Amino acid sequence: MGKKFQAMRGTRDVLPGEVEAWQAVEDTARRLSSRYGFREIRTPLFEATELFARGVGDSTDIVRKEMYTFPDRKGRSLTLRPEGTAGVARALIEAGLAQPDRLHRLYYLGPMFRYDRPQAGRYRQFHQWGAEVVGTASPWADVETILLLVDLLTGLGLEGLVVKLNSVGDGTCRPAYQAKLREILTPRRAELCADCQERLDRNPLRVLDCKVPSCREIVKGLPPMLDFLCDPCRAHFEAVKSGVTAAGVRFEIDPGLVRGLDYYTRTAYEVHHGKLGAQSAVGGGGRYDGLIQELGGPSVPAVGFSMGIERTLLALEEEGRKPATEVSAIYLARGAGLGGEAARLARRLRKRWTVYVDFEERGLGAQLKQADRLGARVALILGEDEAKAGEASIKDLGSGEQRRVRQADLEEALEQTLRGPVASA
Ligand code: HAM
Repeated sequence: MGKKFQAMRGTRDVLPGEVEAWQAVEDTARRLSSRYGFREIRTPLFEATELFARGVGDSTDIVRKEMYTFPDRKGRSLTLRPEGTAGVARALIEAGLAQPDRLHRLYYLGPMFRYDRPQAGRYRQFHQWGAEVVGTASPWADVETILLLVDLLTGLGLEGLVVKLNSVGDGTCRPAYQAKLREILTPRRAELCADCQERLDRNPLRVLDCKVPSCREIVKGLPPMLDFLCDPCRAHFEAVKSGVTAAGVRFEIDPGLVRGLDYYTRTAYEVHHGKLGAQSAVGGGGRYDGLIQELGGPSVPAVGFSMGIERTLLALEEEGRKPATEVSAIYLARGAGLGGEAARLARRLRKRWTVYVDFEERGLGAQLKQADRLGARVALILGEDEAKAGEASIKDLGSGEQRRVRQADLEEALEQTLRGPVASA
């Protein structure tokens, strides 16, 4: 026997039965994105390592510990994308589309890769839906991205959601805050975890995000960034808060929310779900007015978020919600030697419905059992008698009622049967 393989740690297969829920979330994300006027962008799964080092920032855990980085055959350092925003910014700059006076509303769906310790809601390959508005500094763009994220999650039926909002300031006011944090934390350096001792040197803001309990205690006593905002950052934050309130979405101010990526300026937000345990952020984002310039483009302000598909599905499961599956599938059972005729009929009916055709030469009972297993609503039976008469039998698998109809009238007859109430099993 050959060696058996397993999916790599932190990666998962999505099998039929599970994939329907994925598709429902993805379809809803696409539909809602386009309702909001966002168009899809697709960027490569790997990029130059330097893009993420500069974009996401080398003080972040993502860049320091979590990237899948490897040399290609020519010795270039490549990295599997840990997130989507840096790639989108690179693509816009490369295409000459990142311009101060051009507005882009973009969304993407796809896998991201982070080498982190896997646990519930945390994987090494995971999937995001993300949306970015590039080319405006208006707080209304921040508001709209928050609404888009919240609309998707509530549209899927989720209830236990908490929107958290903060401002991380900008290049004018943040340095004074960072200096203040250093001033307070340096004398207490020895009390910080090893990671935070390094963070203190590289970017003390990252200490606010530490999950180690002893660091959390120290963080509690620190002044919030909000006390340090310059006037324009404060005005922006007030505008975002009033916009979200006006739209009827409730939120909390979380002064400790700094996000795990370095590119944020001003607005930072996350949406959490109460039943997800330690990995409770379903989505998060914020404004990144400096990223495009940092990556070699012109100064173009932008804002956006990403939502984790796996965590969204976990939240749906926790709330006992299942996305709807198709209820109108037809199973075409056929007599021996009628394969060709069944294939022809099935092609015709697939213009309107899902049709399964039985592949085996076997008894009607076995075929109907298979129809049941697949959750078909109706069995269409093409036996020898029916075929000779140019007819077929329609069996409602809920009620058990059966009738024969002319093949020429099949669509109309099936329409009638499928329109009837779904009998509960
Ligand atoms: P992020 O907060 O790093 O932001 O990730 C966004 C979401 O992706 C998280 O809230 C979570 O649902 C999901 N996620 C992250 N890591 C994992 C993981 N290891 N396993 C499963 N799910 C995960 C970003 O990625 C930014 N690019 C968001 C953004 C877009 N900011 C501006 N524009």
